[in-house]
Amino acid sequence: MFELNGKVAVVTGAGSGIGRAIAQVFARQGAQVHILELHPDAALETVAQIEDAGGTAQSHACDVSHQEQVKEVFQAIGKVDILVNNAGIAHVGSLENTSEQDLDRIYQVNVKGAYNCLLAAVGLMKEQGGGVILNMASIAAHVGLVDRFAYSMSKGAMAAMTLSVAKDYLPFNIRCNSVSPARVHTPFVDGFIAKNYQGQEAEMFEKLSKTQPIGRMAKPEEVAALALYLCSEEAGFITGCDYPIDGGFIKLNS
Ligand SMILES: NC(=O)c1ccc[n+]([C@@H]2O[C@H](COP(=O)([O-])OP(=O)(O)OC[C@H]3O[C@@H](n4cnc5c(N)ncnc54)[C@H](O)[C@@H]3O)[C@@H](O)[C@H]2O)c1
Repeated sequence: MFELNGKVAVVTGAGSGIGRAIAQVFARQGAQVHILELHPDAALETVAQIEDAGGTAQSHACDVSHQEQVKEVFQAIGKVDILVNNAGIAHVGSLENTSEQDLDRIYQVNVKGAYNCLLAAVGLMKEQGGGVILNMASIAAHVGLVDRFAYSMSKGAMAAMTLSVAKDYLPFNIRCNSVSPARVHTPFVDGFIAKNYQGQEAEMFEKLSKTQPIGRMAKPEEVAALALYLCSEEAGFITGCDYPIDGGFIKLNS
């Protein structure tokens, strides 16, 4: 089950964290993986890890917020069976602590970056007779979180884009879903703690772990396993859905 033999999968932001884990699992299941990444060195490290494990992967230096770059990379790849829109950045702040520049920066990567990849991928998928898309949303798309104004805006957009694409491309055999993780232990989280809670790193790590009723953060591999299922043929009846992977955050936190 969950084989991806012969499939071409594009994973954005797979130089780190969740994206890297998804690229590794997809390659292990037989997919030929293409990584679109802002930091080419990080992407090459993922490629090397995949090749060491016997898989196939290629990295493409690409800023997903630039439509021309994205278009060129997808054209060069030529065939895309699976797209995982994973690249994303964060911002901490309430409405009043979010500048116009902060909002634009989050929008450019998290919303427009996903749009650019969706646009490039659906064209190819339509020509090929189908495909699967998975968007990385967040619990921030579904519940009110303190100081996540811009980030929540972007992840809410991701959930809404998922529904729109799932609906419009039903006739083209393209499935589109999203996943909504709570806190996952990645460099994204370590960087966020280091930047915002200097000197209180261990205490903050513990506090953030406990915000999940299950008592810890998710591992990137756990999100990758859900991504694999949703992008596999076994999930052929699933489209237009969001899957929280949140240690009980949304439903068990009262
Ligand atoms: N870590 C969490 O707790 C968590 C929870 C919910 C959702 N998410 C989402 O999961 C996704 C991955 O998060 P992560 O924790 O693995 O982050 P990460 O920072 O470890 O990795 C993100 C990757 O995206 C790349 N990237 C950033 N901007 C880019 C751009 N413009 N073009 C191409 N690549 C770009 C980065 O270089 C990096 O390699 C993000 O969309 C994030 O919002 C993370």
